[in-house]
Amino acid sequence: MSMVPIVILASGRGSNFEAIADAIQSKKLDVEIRAVISDQPGAAVLTKARVRGIPGICIPMSKEPISLEKRRLAHEELILSQLKSLNPKFLVLAGYMRILTSRLIEAFRCDRGYSRMVNIHPSLLPAFPGVHAYSQAFNYGVKVTGVTIHLVELDLDSGPICAQEAFSIADCTSSAEVEGRGLKVEHRLVPEALQWILKEEFKFERREGRFNVCQS
Ligand code: GRF
Repeated sequence: MSMVPIVILASGRGSNFEAIADAIQSKKLDVEIRAVISDQPGAAVLTKARVRGIPGICIPMSKEPISLEKRRLAHEELILSQLKSLNPKFLVLAGYMRILTSRLIEAFRCDRGYSRMVNIHPSLLPAFPGVHAYSQAFNYGVKVTGVTIHLVELDLDSGPICAQEAFSIADCTSSAEVEGRGLKVEHRLVPEALQWILKEEFKFERREGRFNVCQS
C-alpha cells in the first residue's frame, strides 16, 4: 500500500490532526504525516504531534517592521525550505490561521492545474468564509450549516470544493454548541475525504469558468 506523504499546517488545538493520525493508525487512511508545522510556538497541535513521534516544527511569523505582505512571503520561504527535505506530496491545512500567498500555493500546483493543498473550513462554503465560521453561522441565524473540504486557491476559502456535509443547528443555543456538533462532523468527514482526495481519485473539470472536483 503506497502512503501519500503529507505535511499538516495547523495553528492551534489539533483535533483534526488527531482525527487524521487516528485514521492512519487504524488503517483507514493511506497517508504518512511527515511533520506538523505551526506558526504558533504554544500550539497544542505541536505537542500532540511529538507525542505520536511526528516532528512538530514551529515556524513563527517574524515581527519585523516591514509590510505584512513581505512578512508573509518571508514566512512562506521558511516553510518552503523546511518542506524541501520533508518532500510532501500534499499540504493539509487543519486550522491554519494564516492567509497564504501565491508563493506557497504555486509551489504545490500540479500538472492537472490545481494546487496540492487541502483546507478544512467549518461552514458550507461559499457561505461564511473567513474566521469563526461556526459563530458566523450561529449569529446569522441559519438553521443548517456544515463543513467543507476544499482545494486551496488564492482567494480566501474559494478553491474547488471536494466534500461537504450539512447539519442542523436550528436547536443550538450557543455558537459553542454549533462548534461541538461541527467538530464531530469534521473528525469523521476529514479522514474520509482525504482518503480519495490525496490519492487524486477525482475528476477536475471546468464548469462555467470555475474548476470543480468530482470524486471518481
Ligand atoms: C476547525 O474547526 C477547522 O474546521 C478550522 O479550524 C478548526 C481547527 O480545529 N479550520 P483543530 O485545531 O483541528 O482542533
